[in-house]
Amino acid sequence: MPDIFQNDLFLRAARGETVDRPPVWLMRQAGRILPQYRALRANFPDFKTFVKTPEAAAEATVQPVDELGVDAAIIFSDILVVPEAMGLNYEMLEARGPRFPEVIENQAGVDALLSGENAAEHLGYVYDALRLTKRTLAGRVPLIGFAGAPWTILAYMVEGSGSKTFSKARRMLYTNPVLAHTLLQKITDTTIAYLTGQVAAGANLLQLFDSWAGELPPAHYRAFAVPYLRQICEALPGVPKTVFAKSAWFALEDLGELPCEVIGLDWNTPPAFARARVGESKILQGNLDPCCLYADAETIEAGTKEMLRQFGRRHIANLGHGVYPDTPLEGVRAFVGAVKAWRYAHG
Ligand code: CP3
Repeated sequence: MPDIFQNDLFLRAARGETVDRPPVWLMRQAGRILPQYRALRANFPDFKTFVKTPEAAAEATVQPVDELGVDAAIIFSDILVVPEAMGLNYEMLEARGPRFPEVIENQAGVDALLSGENAAEHLGYVYDALRLTKRTLAGRVPLIGFAGAPWTILAYMVEGSGSKTFSKARRMLYTNPVLAHTLLQKITDTTIAYLTGQVAAGANLLQLFDSWAGELPPAHYRAFAVPYLRQICEALPGVPKTVFAKSAWFALEDLGELPCEVIGLDWNTPPAFARARVGESKILQGNLDPCCLYADAETIEAGTKEMLRQFGRRHIANLGHGVYPDTPLEGVRAFVGAVKAWRYAHG
């Protein structure tokens, strides 16, 4: 049975329907910006236990809808649950981020990984969290499902953590491209099974996070990232999809040809520059500098209005990357409020 929403502005905008104002949500809205998240999280020994507790994940997902009045919820999870389901365990170190005790270095490492449904079957806790969230939301707003893009997941699996240069992962593309493609295909097969499961559990739109897209030279982005994004988009025809390839301004023509509805932009990419490259058919999402939200309410309102003016129609308002955890809530409210007060000119 199709969902019935009290507020379906986000899905109408993603489908390209004419709307009065752009919908608004924030990447990383579920999490540390909210005192109620920090209170809930304090009951758990670590991030992974929290993520694997569907009741907690569902509560964290709904918190920003209650507190901020955003037009969409995003399921509380992490992109690193996919490598874990494939058999590569990670730790989330307080204040330092993720770390993989073992990394992928050779063919034996890739051969040992699970993929497709055999890997995705370990992600039942995310499907449970999605189903529980849908029940709690009771149609208030649509629910976004997500996964990391294959290149970004490869980067974590090869580097073992975040990195200033991603030189280990980038090196593999030159020194062992066959191994890189084998690994990317296994990640892609897993991601397709995982996102299919998310849709079955109630996700209304899917976003792919290619957080390290901007690390690759254009030819490598075209060879090692775009074909796998295409496979994922083609495997999920029935649901709207957003591709957020951070800092991949150089790949916008290729991204514009993907069978997805929405392209996410980081704050370095001018809306008109992106529009000229992706064409008219796509909806653009983004892209206020997250640091603008540290400013006073007037500055935030002016920055948000200028962004809205530059995008014009066919836009979903968001930041250019995830909201930083120490952002004042008043700043987030000023941003959301400025978008919700905006009306497109008629005609
Ligand atoms: O509100 C939401 O967006 C939903 C939840 C969400 C999280 N991670 C929760 C989280 C989403 C969509 C992600 C995606 C994610 N995770 C990305 C892609 C988006 C991006 O920022 O580029 C990436 C690269 C990761 C990997 C990751 N997870 C890192 C690098 C870190 C540590 C840095 C940090 O932000 O602390 C995480 C941990 C993480 N994921 C936290 C949360 C709320 C913080 C840990 C905690 O609360 O204990």
